[in-house]
Amino acid sequence: MNPLLPLHLLAVGCWIGCLVVETVVETSRDYGDEQPFLPAKLHRTIDLYVELPILALLFVSGFLLIDWSTLGGLLLVKVLCGTGAILANLGCAVVVFKRKRWADLRDADSVAAQNRNLQLVSALFFPLSLATLAIGIHRLVSG
Ligand code: HEM
Repeated sequence: MNPLLPLHLLAVGCWIGCLVVETVVETSRDYGDEQPFLPAKLHRTIDLYVELPILALLFVSGFLLIDWSTLGGLLLVKVLCGTGAILANLGCAVVVFKRKRWADLRDADSVAAQNRNLQLVSALFFPLSLATLAIGIHRLVSG
């Protein structure tokens, strides 16, 4: 087995954990308005120090795993969906960074506008990541 595969799978697991935490942070927006700008600030900290380094590891390990001489079929679809998911995730990070700047200025309308942008980019991101994960798990299980 290529020793990079466990590293790639570790990055997949860390990334999923990170997405779960981010979802909890984002849904906390609905819990009232004691700290209306806190989710924007927390999500940006998670992106900067946790998610972006994990994404880099995920992409580099996946890219180095590619055997270009046999790349095709379902694995090619997985690589394309995975790359698309990572790019969409980077798009989410751009929105999160912009939103943090509005949160620092305590501009609630601009933060709300970025919340909507985040939902739009996530609508692209989630199907791509689920497709990548489903194909990856299918390949793992079917050997
Ligand atoms: C959403 C992000 C990703 C997820 C959830 C994911 C998931 C997985 C899983 C579960 C496996 C193990 C199954 C297998 O061996 O085929 C795997 C392997 C692999 N992944 Fe990813 N991956 C992601 C991103 C990427 C990216 C961006 C690339 C390439 C640029 C990539 C390339 C590969 C390769 C080449 C293998 C080994 C396939 C083999 O030789 O059997 N992955 N991935």
